[in-house]
Amino acid sequence: MTQSPLARLEAAYASIAARVGAPSDTAIVLGSGLGHLADAVVNPTFIPYGEIAGFPVSTAPGHKGQLVIGDLFGRRTVLMQGRVHLYEGWAPQDVAHVIYLLGKLGPKRLIVTNAAGALNPDYRPGDVMLIEDHLNFTGLNPLTGPNDEAIGVRFPDLSRAYDPALQSVTIKAAEVAGVSLRRGIYVGVAGPSLETSAERRYYRATGADAVGMSTVLEVVAAAHIRLPVIGLSAITNEATGGPDQQPDTIEEVLANAAIAGKKIDAVLAKLLPQL
Ligand code: 6GU
Repeated sequence: MTQSPLARLEAAYASIAARVGAPSDTAIVLGSGLGHLADAVVNPTFIPYGEIAGFPVSTAPGHKGQLVIGDLFGRRTVLMQGRVHLYEGWAPQDVAHVIYLLGKLGPKRLIVTNAAGALNPDYRPGDVMLIEDHLNFTGLNPLTGPNDEAIGVRFPDLSRAYDPALQSVTIKAAEVAGVSLRRGIYVGVAGPSLETSAERRYYRATGADAVGMSTVLEVVAAAHIRLPVIGLSAITNEATGGPDQQPDTIEEVLANAAIAGKKIDAVLAKLLPQL
C-alpha cells in the first residue's frame, strides 16, 4: 500500500468536496438489483466512482457505480448505487475506504442492503430480512494493516454491529408499511462461485439464515468509524442445500431482488422520516 488509509480518504474527499453539498443524514448502500431506489432521489447530484480520486469502480451486474446525493423520502441522503465486492478483485481495504468516504459526508447512520440466498427453509424468494447480526466467512478483515487512530480504534467492538435501537425503529416502520420482515443472521462469503450444498447446510448449522457476497466487511468498517448500521437483505433464491435444490441463476436473483426491492422501498419510505 503506497498511501495510508487516512491519506487515501482525504484525497478522495478533497476530489468531491465541492460537489457534495449539505451533510447527509443517512447513507445507503444499494445491493444487487436494488439500484432503482436511486431513481426516487429528488434533486440528485450524481458522482460517478470514476471521478472520485482513488475509488474502486464497481462492475457487478445490477450495479451502476455512482454516488447519488439528494432528498430521499424527505431526508438528505447519500446512496452508493453499486458497491465494491471482493469477487471483483478488490481488497478488503477498498471496501473499508468507500465506507469511510460515506462517513465523511456526515451521515448519522448507514443502511446496507443486499441480495441474499435463503439458508432458512421458512424463507421464500422475494422476502425481506432485517439483519440482526452477521457471520464473516470471507476469512478477511478490512481493518488489517496499520491502524489510523484518526479513523478509529485498533479493536472496534462488534457486539452490536447492527444497532439495536435502529432495528426496533425499522421493525415498526415495516409494520406501518405493511411489509412482513424476516429477522435473521447474514453470513458473508467471498464468492463469486455460489456455495456447495454441503457449505449451505454447514452455514445453516452455524445459525445463519441468509448468505451473500457483501455487507460484512462494510459493517466492520462502519463499526470502525462508529457509524450505526441497519441491514436489510432481499431474499432472492433458496439456498438450503437440500436434495431438491435447483441451481441458481442470475436472472432469478435479479427478478426476486426486484420483488423484495419494492418492499425495501416501502420500509425505507416509512423509516427515513422516523430517523
Ligand atoms: Cl445463494 N449465495 C451467495 N453467496 N450470494 C447470493 C446468493 C447465494 N443469492 C444471492 N446472493
